[in-house]
Amino acid sequence: MDKVRIGIVGLGNMGRFHANYILEGKVNRCELTSVCSIVPAELEPFPDLKQFSSSEELIRSGEIDAVLIATPHFQHTSMGIDALENGIHIMVEKPISVHKADCERLIQAHEKHPDRVFGAMFQLRAEPRWQKLKKLIDEGELGEIVRINWIISDWYRTEAYYGSSAWRATWKGEGGGVLLNQCPHNLDLMQWLCSPPSKIRGFCQLGRYHGIEVEDNVTFYFECANGATGVFVTSTGEFPGTNRLEISGTRGQIVVENGVTRFTRNESCMLEFSKTAKAGFAKPEVWNVEIPAGNAEMPHAIVLQNFTDAILDGTPLMVPGHEGMHSVEMANAALYSSLTDQTIELPLDGPAYEAKLNQLIADSTFEKKVVESSGEDFTKSFTKQ
Ligand SMILES: NC(=O)c1ccc[n+]([C@@H]2O[C@H](COP(=O)([O-])OP(=O)(O)OC[C@H]3O[C@@H](n4cnc5c(N)ncnc54)[C@H](O)[C@@H]3O)[C@@H](O)[C@H]2O)c1
Repeated sequence: MDKVRIGIVGLGNMGRFHANYILEGKVNRCELTSVCSIVPAELEPFPDLKQFSSSEELIRSGEIDAVLIATPHFQHTSMGIDALENGIHIMVEKPISVHKADCERLIQAHEKHPDRVFGAMFQLRAEPRWQKLKKLIDEGELGEIVRINWIISDWYRTEAYYGSSAWRATWKGEGGGVLLNQCPHNLDLMQWLCSPPSKIRGFCQLGRYHGIEVEDNVTFYFECANGATGVFVTSTGEFPGTNRLEISGTRGQIVVENGVTRFTRNESCMLEFSKTAKAGFAKPEVWNVEIPAGNAEMPHAIVLQNFTDAILDGTPLMVPGHEGMHSVEMANAALYSSLTDQTIELPLDGPAYEAKLNQLIADSTFEKKVVESSGEDFTKSFTKQ
């Protein structure tokens, strides 16, 4: 095989975006042969491609080697499993599933078909700024991590956004709010750069700012196995909001804010310094370093190129699909903690959370009003930081 024939399921904002850059030739050795949507009008812009109205037909068509799943989140699991069981490689949009038990089902299907490639679309991992931070942390330049705080309260969304499609911001259609839709990238980066939390205490306000039933304003406290602590704050209702990530280690502190990454490097380890300093108010000397962001052109295409190379050449994946479970688990745990008013130890009990979510779906009396929104450039929604 010298190229990957790919199909896309779901031709909304994200599916169309993927289709366009593949058709523009931004991914070498990857040919978009087929598209699939349940809405016939969404297929019309692709008259030269094979068109399907169901993912089952696409997966069994013989027209594709791989499928990119860009539908509402709940279907990521069922379509992903169906594709794997039929010998198709999968690239799944974030979040890989709505809840941990579904992530485990998808991961188990992949374990049964390990010769298929399972990637997840966490494109921020392809951006130089985050890769540099990852390298710096992995090489020990920050020392041992002691605190991680991310205030990302600038995911501002209007009522028109929530009214733009029926599945959004409902327990049944989306399975969650800001934690599951806007924050998977941030949660993924936090656990990838540092480590997954070992416990979470969440405070989630449901429909605080919008006429929705899911969370749109969240604060959660977390701890990691090494004793590092952190706070994650997010909102889709606050404006102007803040986007500031702070990672503190024994050798200094990193702050990412307003597109700038600053590393305040302790010349000596703060713990050693504390033990050996002769004066009570002495402090380690610091160096102030600004880390250049580097170019981040088309990070989605970079992740898809890596997926293509993994299929054709066995190149290691930037984002192995199973790693997509961490951000889902964090989102689920914060919500579960808030709903049950208790601290949640990780690993989260996936079936218990699934039962809770099913109860929310069953008890829901919320009526979603879908309103046509004016055409706008959705790529403005991609996080810059
Ligand atoms: N990686 C990123 O930067 C990024 C950005 C935005 C959205 N996303 C993710 O992409 C996914 C889609 O989000 P969106 O904003 O494009 O949503 P959307 O509502 O704009 O599009 C969803 C599409 O799925 C189609 N669809 C629904 N059910 C289907 C079915 N059974 N079979 C085939 N098609 C079906 C709809 O017709 C629509 O075309 C979500 O999981 C979202 O989290 C990722």
